[in-house]
Amino acid sequence: MQFPKLTPLQSRLVACLCTSTLCVLVYYLLSPAPARYFAYAAELDSLLNQDHNHHRILGAQGAELLGDSWGEEGSYEAEFVGVSRSLIGRADDVPQGLKNNVPETLNIDPGDTKYYVFEKADIFGKKGSNRKELPSNLPPDNHRTKRDDSEGESLDAAEHANQTLERRQDTSIQQVYISINTCLQPTTNATVTAYPQLSLYISTVDTNQKPGPGADDSSQTMFQLDGGYMNVTINVTDNVYIGIAAPKLDLGFTGSWNYEIAASIDAFFMDYFETPFLWKVDSDSNSALLATMNLTSENVPPDNVTAQTKMEHLRQKWMGITPPFELFVFNQSDPAAQALKRSYCGLKKMNLGAGIDTNMTRRGMGQNPKQQFHVKQLKPGQKYLAILGYNGVKQEDEVGSAGGGGRIWETLSFETQRDGNCRIIFDLPFCNDVAYAVPTNPTNDTLKDMQNLVNFYDEHAKALYQNFTFSLQQIPCDTTSSAQYSLVSNCEQCARSYKTWLCAVTIPRCTDFSAPNSSTKKYLLPRNVMQPFYNNDSLADLTGHWNDPAEARERMYLNSSRNPLIDSVIRPGPYKELLPCRQLCYDLVRTCPAALGFQCPDQGFMLDRSYGDFDRSQFSVDVVTCNYPGVDWPTLSGVGRVRGAGVAVAVAVGLMVIAVMEGL
Ligand SMILES: *[C@@H]1O[C@H](CO)[C@@H](O)[C@H](O)[C@H]1NC(C)=O
Ligand SMILES: *[C@@H]1O[C@H](CO)[C@@H](O)[C@H](O)[C@H]1NC(C)=O
Ligand SMILES: *[C@@H]1O[C@H](CO)[C@@H](O)[C@H](O)[C@H]1NC(C)=O
Ligand SMILES: *[C@@H]1O[C@H](CO)[C@@H](O)[C@H](O)[C@H]1NC(C)=O
Ligand SMILES: *[C@@H]1O[C@H](CO)[C@@H](O)[C@H](O)[C@H]1NC(C)=O
Ligand SMILES: *[C@@H]1O[C@H](CO)[C@@H](O)[C@H](O)[C@H]1NC(C)=O
Ligand SMILES: *[C@@H]1O[C@H](CO)[C@@H](O)[C@H](O)[C@H]1NC(C)=O
Ligand SMILES: *[C@@H]1O[C@H](CO)[C@@H](O)[C@H](O)[C@H]1NC(C)=O
Ligand SMILES: *[C@@H]1O[C@H](CO)[C@@H](O)[C@H](O)[C@H]1NC(C)=O
Ligand SMILES: *[C@@H]1O[C@H](CO)[C@@H](O)[C@H](O)[C@H]1NC(C)=O
Ligand SMILES: *[C@@H]1O[C@H](CO)[C@@H](O)[C@H](O)[C@H]1NC(C)=O
Ligand SMILES: *[C@@H]1O[C@H](CO)[C@@H](O)[C@H](O)[C@H]1NC(C)=O
Repeated sequence: MQFPKLTPLQSRLVACLCTSTLCVLVYYLLSPAPARYFAYAAELDSLLNQDHNHHRILGAQGAELLGDSWGEEGSYEAEFVGVSRSLIGRADDVPQGLKNNVPETLNIDPGDTKYYVFEKADIFGKKGSNRKELPSNLPPDNHRTKRDDSEGESLDAAEHANQTLERRQDTSIQQVYISINTCLQPTTNATVTAYPQLSLYISTVDTNQKPGPGADDSSQTMFQLDGGYMNVTINVTDNVYIGIAAPKLDLGFTGSWNYEIAASIDAFFMDYFETPFLWKVDSDSNSALLATMNLTSENVPPDNVTAQTKMEHLRQKWMGITPPFELFVFNQSDPAAQALKRSYCGLKKMNLGAGIDTNMTRRGMGQNPKQQFHVKQLKPGQKYLAILGYNGVKQEDEVGSAGGGGRIWETLSFETQRDGNCRIIFDLPFCNDVAYAVPTNPTNDTLKDMQNLVNFYDEHAKALYQNFTFSLQQIPCDTTSSAQYSLVSNCEQCARSYKTWLCAVTIPRCTDFSAPNSSTKKYLLPRNVMQPFYNNDSLADLTGHWNDPAEARERMYLNSSRNPLIDSVIRPGPYKELLPCRQLCYDLVRTCPAALGFQCPDQGFMLDRSYGDFDRSQFSVDVVTCNYPGVDWPTLSGVGRVRGAGVAVAVAVGLMVIAVMEGL
């Protein structure tokens, strides 16, 4: 049974009507109706001028009894002014009816409490419709379900709920999902560490229809919002009463809150998932490149052509859609942002909205689509919070659909670099897996345009690759397998590993010279230590960066870049390099014909000065031990618990690599 949604005025009208003999009449006319209707009316009658809110409940039930025939005319107000003036001021006090998946938004003042009821008729009513606008599931559903997502169908939370429900369809128990978002909060000019949060009270007993700070605690449960969000599931058999309470303010806070609450029998209307779905590709002094995790499954059997074709189709679907995710970026030490970090609605309202370029990309191993975000206009050496949100593409008439209130995933914190001579480049035409900070010179106006920096590195690598292909053409490659140089490799594989290796060694991954030799960054190799900083005549102070300064000044590998063109054209000054992974070199030697003469340095000093080590045992939060274009570090350390890609590595020599390159 659907009740009409009542405005406070309509509720008041009902209340007043029922103080008349009408209710008595109804009671006698409809004798099977439960006696408690009358009891309410009587109670209401006697308490009308006191603080009482049963009239809303009665209103709804009255509507049932009276066949929905009243209550359209708001114009009755004048007649009742004398009776219920006190009720007008307290109209918000009336428990408002919640409908399945329909959010209610309201302002709430400090110290105030608002009441809602999710009525039995709605709880056991019609299920909401489902939103299915993305090509495949998002985390955490993508990993939790065993379903093959190469089918390109979305199985979202609402469907889960539906399945759960089907299993126990005949019971009289229903699972109810209540979620709340803080959209706006009081502000303060005082220095505070935390912002006050709203509280959610829930009662399932008719004796406590106004759960809140003043009500009996044995008949209600309190939930404090966290980051502007709370979710609660309860199994119920009857009405659910909800109270939302705002704390009193201190510390110079002014203003009120605004929140959005929704109850559902399908799934949470607003979601916060404590699941990492965003990772840091790299950062420089003024920007950061972030990306979502893979949007398609990584585990497709390579020998199953059907599965591969399906997956490719799905990947193309993702690439064809408008980038669906939103990114919110804040100063990490801003307590106002911390206080809303789990609230889609709050983040949306607080968002500054500027300085983020976003695009879909298939960069990296597996060619799985991701959405990337280039966050610009950041300040050097600062910590930021980045939060990924999603709210689909809403249709205008889309009311009552499950999960329509937005999703938020786990917050990512990242830090910008300081020195200014490293800059992120990505989407290179040739070295397409490169997406990291490279040495630059911020005083060179030509290089201020990222495209010029991209061209400098990319064209150099491309020219070297061109010469390599000439060499490769001398080798019998794509003949029959017996004539090939190896059964396990062919020229295409060789060319691929050469390209990855070449891009990594000619385009150094750059990090601050000032980056300390900390436990996570101890393998960074200083470069150009005897050159002045780009904006400074002074030489670098090597204390803390190299144990033996005298040695550092004499070593070529500490006094040049890996690629001499960088020093002659870009002139970045001192920086530290995250060395390429030695596995790039091993792959090259393994997949290419011996006739090409590739060789990696032997174990020991020369190897350590040339290459870092792709060492899985070292993977942990914020540790990247070497540069391997196309590898997405944070996903390598197990269950995706790693949140960022910092920088670190083994020590090396430009000379060695140049020797290897010149040996071609
Ligand atoms: C839930 O299940 C019913 C019956 O199986 C089906 O008709 C309905 O479409 C499903 N609803 C959703 C939201 O999937
Ligand atoms: C904070 O300071 C600004 C300007 O200094 C003032 O306009 C605003 O009213 C202050 N807000 C509060 C909450 O004190
Ligand atoms: C509600 O019932 C379902 C199925 O009966 C059960 O799995 C779930 O744990 C219950 N939830 C709560 C909050 O009691
Ligand atoms: C409910 O909230 C908790 C944290 O408060 C979160 O871990 C969980 O994922 C949320 N569930 C949904 C479905 O939003
Ligand atoms: C290939 O994958 C499809 C699913 O995409 C599966 O139905 C089929 O059985 C697989 N074939 C083989 C040979 O494994
Ligand atoms: C972030 O907040 C801190 C503390 O309020 C402040 O010192 C810092 O300058 C802020 N950073 C940015 C980038 O606004
Ligand atoms: C985003 O990608 C599309 C196609 O891949 C490209 O045309 C467009 O220029 C890109 N936009 C940006 C800002 O990189
Ligand atoms: C994407 O999938 C590839 C394998 O196909 C994996 O190597 C990579 O780590 C994944 N990256 C992310 C960000 O999930
Ligand atoms: C600036 O960079 C360009 C390379 O893009 C280089 O050709 C030019 O010489 C540099 N200018 C200065 C003043 O170093
Ligand atoms: C390619 O090889 C030619 C001939 O050996 C040489 O002149 C040229 O400099 C090489 N190009 C690059 C970019 O090294
Ligand atoms: C400039 O030189 C001073 C003194 O040696 C040093 O402290 C400072 O870090 C230098 N600035 C930059 C940007 O390197
Ligand atoms: C920094 O790390 C490198 C590489 O491990 C090491 O050779 C050097 O001595 C370290 N410097 C200091 C000051 O600890």
